[in-house]
Amino acid sequence: MKEQARARARQLAQEYAQRGDATGWFEELYTQAQGNEQAIHWADLEVNPSLVAWLDRRNIQGKGKRALVVGCGLGDDAEELARRGFEVVAFDIAPTAIAWCRQRFLQSSVEYVVADVFDPPQGWRGSFDFVLEAYTLQVLPAAVRSRAMTRIVGLLAQGGTLLVICRGRFPEEPPGNLPWPLSTEELEVFKGAGLRQVQFEDYFDQEEPKVRRFRVEYRRASSAES
Ligand SMILES: C[S@@+](CC[C@H](N)C(=O)[O-])C[C@H]1O[C@@H](n2cnc3c(N)ncnc32)[C@H](O)[C@@H]1O
Repeated sequence: MKEQARARARQLAQEYAQRGDATGWFEELYTQAQGNEQAIHWADLEVNPSLVAWLDRRNIQGKGKRALVVGCGLGDDAEELARRGFEVVAFDIAPTAIAWCRQRFLQSSVEYVVADVFDPPQGWRGSFDFVLEAYTLQVLPAAVRSRAMTRIVGLLAQGGTLLVICRGRFPEEPPGNLPWPLSTEELEVFKGAGLRQVQFEDYFDQEEPKVRRFRVEYRRASSAES
């Protein structure tokens, strides 16, 4: 079922791309799923294990801090950050995904919002202590990815942390199929936009077949440092 759902997503993405629309297919995919998460191949209905491992290792405490989840999908990562004390805003371009999150987590403290990473609300600029980007950049075509990355940097508060979790490749490797792994070269955009790379991890996850992932932590300088 997962492979069928992935094939359907690739087909939809291609159809929309031919019309010059890089993001319209997400809403169509969620709508067509009609509440069946099996039709959304990235929806595991559990928190991303790479996020949990990082939060545990760094002993991250969210109390008094604001977090933003980019392309939140069905909301599990956002809920985990809220559970760890963050005040969380989670957004997705697909209204059906956001409605689904609200329905799944009726008592949630997370503010779920329909928004586009290419055009985030003005009020979000520079206002988040922690921003999580997991698996959204890799479903955006390479031609628009760096614009999304620059927008994400603009959302971080001074002293804030950005955590990126993505499929990874080295520049000499072929770009592959959607989800397109991010190359180490592409990730340089974050540094070019003013962030300091704190840690870069290159590993294989537990999926079968194993998938190469990058987990990268960046920091925006605080006012005292800049
Ligand atoms: C591959 S899914 C990953 C979802 C979630 N982060 C996860 O790890 O399960 C990518 C998500 O990004 C959303 N998305 C795609 N383009 C977006 C954009 N321009 N702005 C905000 N969200 C976007 C999609 O609707 C989808 O829910």
